[in-house]
Amino acid sequence: MKYFLDSAKLDEIEDAYGTFGIDGVTTNPRHIQASGKSFMDAIEGIAKWLADRKLSDYTVFPVSVEVNPHLEKTDEMVREARRIAAISKNFVIKIPCVGAGIAASRILEAEGVRTNVTLVFSPSQAIAAGRNKALFVSPFIGWKEANGEDAGAYIGTIAEIYRIHNYPTEIICAAVRTGRQIVACAAAGAHIITAGLAVYQDSFKHPYTRDGLELFRNAWDNTKQ
Ligand code: E4P
Repeated sequence: MKYFLDSAKLDEIEDAYGTFGIDGVTTNPRHIQASGKSFMDAIEGIAKWLADRKLSDYTVFPVSVEVNPHLEKTDEMVREARRIAAISKNFVIKIPCVGAGIAASRILEAEGVRTNVTLVFSPSQAIAAGRNKALFVSPFIGWKEANGEDAGAYIGTIAEIYRIHNYPTEIICAAVRTGRQIVACAAAGAHIITAGLAVYQDSFKHPYTRDGLELFRNAWDNTKQ
């Protein structure tokens, strides 16, 4: 299972890439806002970072960039997606899972612009992405669990449908907030997790590891050298 970083901040992307080898990046309008840059400056900065590291295209290191969320018509989304995709071969275009977006994703995938169908909250929405052979689908986990729903069962259903019907779309579990959610998504058949840097950092920690290290240090210090 791959790990993507959910951020548009270059220092976080560099940190996550260097320290634990993330496999890709996802952004959204809130991440772009948090980067403190304009939309174009943020995505061109990421494109330059990719080029500097010779991360050639989306098959090596995909970066999801979302179309303007105000767009409501298919042709507007398609035009915007083509414009963004022309900036970097790594860019995968995030399209909202609404009727116009599903139509846009189908057109874009047919012409080779890869898409990530986002804001997905039900298996029937995920089927629409799978039928289009979208590269990615992004069911949002944290938002559902905050609402009292179970992420593992939700992802398990989508994964089983994709397996039965041979949909090539990879499942990105998005808005993942905890190590427990990472485990639930992994066990349910997710292909990819996307989360913020702190979520990954916390998921590597365990109090017994810290306590055990302390015990071993004491033993080391009390052993004849
Ligand atoms: C996923 O691709 C989204 O960018 C993200 O996970 C959205 O949720 P959040 O901003 O609440 O984490």
